[in-house]
Amino acid sequence: MVDHRILFLLFVFFLFFSNVSSSDGVDPMICQVVDDEGLGAEHHFLEFKRRFGKVYATEEEHGYRFNVFKSNMHRARRHQLLDPSAVHGVTRFSDLTPMEFRHSVLGLRGVGLPSDADSAPILPTDNLPKDFDWREHGAVTPVKNQGSCGSCWSFSATGALEGAHFLSTGELVSLSEQQLVDCDHQCDPEEAGSCDSGCNGGLMNSAFEYILNNGGVMREEDYPYSGTNGGTCKFDKAKIAASVANFSVVSRDEDQIAANLVKNGPLAVAINAVYMQTYVGGVSCPYVCSKKLNHGVLLVGYGSESYAPIRMKQKPYWIIKNSWGENWGENGYYKICRGRNICGVDSMVSTVAALHTTGN
Ligand SMILES: *[C@@H]1O[C@H](CO)[C@@H](O)[C@H](O)[C@H]1NC(C)=O
Repeated sequence: MVDHRILFLLFVFFLFFSNVSSSDGVDPMICQVVDDEGLGAEHHFLEFKRRFGKVYATEEEHGYRFNVFKSNMHRARRHQLLDPSAVHGVTRFSDLTPMEFRHSVLGLRGVGLPSDADSAPILPTDNLPKDFDWREHGAVTPVKNQGSCGSCWSFSATGALEGAHFLSTGELVSLSEQQLVDCDHQCDPEEAGSCDSGCNGGLMNSAFEYILNNGGVMREEDYPYSGTNGGTCKFDKAKIAASVANFSVVSRDEDQIAANLVKNGPLAVAINAVYMQTYVGGVSCPYVCSKKLNHGVLLVGYGSESYAPIRMKQKPYWIIKNSWGENWGENGYYKICRGRNICGVDSMVSTVAALHTTGN
């Protein structure tokens, strides 16, 4: 136990030290990255722009984004030290400040529970499979991309309903997030003024409540994603593809979460996404992570993996489907370690059941 505390103090010291040193112009971490690979920060930035098709309107903007990029390389290095079983580095979001990142690609708002949310019944947990992945059972659509719109909550909600619909009908149908962005203004009963607001954020439980009250959700292709606010609602009742029968909140117990996942399909979960800005792959298991929930994602499975070289110990993880496209993380997925509510991943979990209808 003692070695953990010393490690932790070292990290705190490192964080402090690296924050101080980043303000004096020269960036020692970048130098280290440069030395490791024999390449300059400019080169990394060039690669980044090419890979993600980034174009900046003015020289000033370009200079500013380059600075943000450098400071994010710095953060990625800190994240790497705090989270050694994952790989942190350049991502599509490397030119966004943490604040811009939170505002443009997250979007969880509110905390409350709609009146129709039940508490999930306690399920037996003694015969749970060791590993489980709904992708292998056909219940998960391809990874989608929310773009620069805080609509994560709508992707989390459709993902859970897509899975539930598959379980009740045997058909995997991709559902419309844009319908939720345009039409769902369900308010949080526990937080005044907090309502589902398209690209400005929302809540999965409120989305289920909206779907329940509204009759259902259309197919993705019948109501395609634009990732923008302000569109009029084009919901067409005649084209409902999936409907909510009921939905429930799952307790924080990780065995209950696993049991609900296996029984009812992929689960809508909230998470703190701070490490996700720099995440490239591996099992994310940070020593410290805020439990302040700011992102909605889909829990599709669980497993465990041993990781060298620190200790040959099995690291259990949850498999998370994100909505930032396939070129983020591990083909669009995130693995976060299981066992101690890391980044709040166990704190807001909901399960949904679909009406047994085949739509049209
Ligand atoms: C839906 O309701 C049924 C019957 O009350 C219950 O057994 C089931 O757990 C509920 N499912 C969800 C996902 O809330």
